[in-house]
Amino acid sequence: MLDFKKEIAEAIAKTVELNSNELYSFIEVPKDSENGDYAFPCFKLAKELRKSPMMIAEEIKGKIELDNNIIEKVDVVSGYLNFFVNKNKLAEEIVNEFSNNKEYGKSEIGRGKNIVIDYSAPNIAKPFHIGHLRSTVIGGSLYKIYKYLGYNTIGINHLGDYGTQFGKMIEGYTMWKDEYDIEKDPINQMMDIYVRINNLCKEDEAVLERCRNNFKKLEDGDPYCVELWEKFKDLSLKEFQRVYDLLGSQFDSWNGEAFYSDKMPEVIDILEKTGKLQESQGAKIIDLEDKGINTPIIIKKSNDSTTYATRDLAAILYRARTYDFDKALYVTSYEQVLHFKQVFETAKLLGLDEKYTNGLEHVSFGMVLLPTGKMSTREGTVVKLEDLLNESIERAQKVIEEKNPELENKEDIAKKVGIGAVIFNDLSNNRIKDEVFDWDTILNFQGETGPYVQYTYVRTKSIIEKAGYNIEDIENGAILGDISIEELKDKDSQNILKLLYSFEDVLVQVTDKNEPSILSRYLIDLAKAYSAFYNANKVIVEDEKVKNARVFLTYATGKVLKIGAELLGIQMPDKM
Ligand code: ARG
Repeated sequence: MLDFKKEIAEAIAKTVELNSNELYSFIEVPKDSENGDYAFPCFKLAKELRKSPMMIAEEIKGKIELDNNIIEKVDVVSGYLNFFVNKNKLAEEIVNEFSNNKEYGKSEIGRGKNIVIDYSAPNIAKPFHIGHLRSTVIGGSLYKIYKYLGYNTIGINHLGDYGTQFGKMIEGYTMWKDEYDIEKDPINQMMDIYVRINNLCKEDEAVLERCRNNFKKLEDGDPYCVELWEKFKDLSLKEFQRVYDLLGSQFDSWNGEAFYSDKMPEVIDILEKTGKLQESQGAKIIDLEDKGINTPIIIKKSNDSTTYATRDLAAILYRARTYDFDKALYVTSYEQVLHFKQVFETAKLLGLDEKYTNGLEHVSFGMVLLPTGKMSTREGTVVKLEDLLNESIERAQKVIEEKNPELENKEDIAKKVGIGAVIFNDLSNNRIKDEVFDWDTILNFQGETGPYVQYTYVRTKSIIEKAGYNIEDIENGAILGDISIEELKDKDSQNILKLLYSFEDVLVQVTDKNEPSILSRYLIDLAKAYSAFYNANKVIVEDEKVKNARVFLTYATGKVLKIGAELLGIQMPDKM
C-alpha cells in the first residue's frame, strides 16, 4: 500500500533540505482526527534550523508541494503541520489491497531474521498455573505475529524439568509412594508430595540434605533417580498437553532445562578461563557489582550441583549456535527480572558475538491477581489453569444458553468464547501491569473483551449474508472489483478505513515493543468503529452502489478482526 507518511516526509524534505528518513521518524498520528491524519512537530527541527517551531511550520507550509490526490490539505496549528489524507486515495488503496491480498497485513519485513521465543515453560511435577498461562499466551501471540511479518520464528518450551525440586520429589516419593496413586491424578498427587516434603525440609535439615544429594545423583545419571524423573516428566507432560490443546499452543522445541545438563561443563570452563569465577562459601559465583547488579550470579552450588542460571547460560550458547538468533525473547513474570539481568550480563563473558548478547531480551509481565490474592506453588495455594479454562467454557456456555439457546454447535462455540475470553483478558493491558482476574469483566459481551470482538466479527458475517453474499464469494472477487470509492468518504467509513490502513503498522509496533496488547487494543478500536458505523448507516439499502461499498467495509472489518484475533491465539466462532 502507498505509504502516506513517506509521501509527507519526502515533501517536507524538499522544503528544508533534510534527510527524509529522519523526518519520517518524527511524523505522528494525532489522537484527535480533527487535527489531521498525520502531524509533523516542527519543534524537532528548531535546533537545527535555528528558528521557532511556528516559523518553521509557516515556512514549510508556504513552500511544500503536495500531490492533492494523495494529501488533500495541510494546516498549521501551534508549531505543528497537520496533514489530511485524500479520502478517495485512502479508500482506493484499501480496496486494492483487499482485492490483491488474501492475507491482509502480512509482510516480509522480517525475512532472513531469526527470532527465538522462550515461553510457557511450566515446571514438571507442579501444576500448570495461571502465571504460566500469561507466558503461554503472550509468547504464543508474539510467535504468531513475528511469523506473520515474515520472521523465522522458533518457539521453545524451556520446561522446568531439572533442579533441586526433583531431588525433593524423589525423596518424598520414595518415602511415601504407598500412600499415593500418582498415575491416577498425577499433578495433584505429585503436588501433595511436593508440598509435604517441602514442609519436612523446613523442619529437618537432614532431609533437605538428602534431597540435595538426590538431585546431584540425578545429574550424575543414577538409574533409580533418572527413572523416577522420567516418570514424573511423562505424567506431567500428558497433563500439560491438555492445556495446550485447549489453548492451541505449539512449540518447535521442547528442550527443557535437563537438555543442557551435558552442555554446562563448557560454560563453566569458559567462565573459569575469564578469571571471574570466584569461590564463596563453597559455591562458585561471579560478582556483578561493577555492572550495577548487587547480587552475584551463582554458577555452581556448594554441593557442586548447577543452577537455573547456569542452564540458561548453556541455553544461550546452544541457541546462538543452533538458531543464529537475531533476537532471543524470554517471556516470564517480572519476578525473574534479576535472574535475567544476571544471566544476560554473564552471557557477555561467553565469547559470543555481540549480535547475540544484544539480542537477548526479557519480556516480563505482571502477576495475575485472583480475588484470593497472589498464588504460590510452594504453599500449595494455586489455581490450576485447566480448571480455570474449563470454568470459563462453562460460564460461556451458560451465557449462550441464556441468550441464544437455539444455536447449533453450542459446545464448540462455548469453547471458542470461553478460551478466547481468557486469552483476550490476558492480552488486553500493557503486559507489565498486574492483571486482575474477574469473571464478570472477562465474559462481558459488551465490554472491551474477547467475546465483544468475536461478537462483532459474527455480526459482520451475518450482515454480509443478509445482504445476499457470502465471505467466500467476496474473497473470490464478487464485489471487490466494483466498489464505488465515492460511497466511502463519510466520517464513519473513513474511521474504519484508517484503522484498516494501520493494521500492518500495528503489528510492527507489537514486535518493536513485544507488546501484544497493542493489537488487542486495536481490535477493540476497530470493533467500536464498526459499531459506530453500523449504528449510523444501514448496510442493506436499495442503491446497489451504496450497499456494495458498505458490504465491503463490513467484510474488510470482519476479515481484519479475524486475522487479528487469530494472531492473538483466539478462534472466531461462525455464530454466537
Ligand atoms: N520454568 C520457569 C518458571 O516456571 C520459567 C522458565 C523460563 N525460561 C528460561 N529460559 N528461564 O518460572
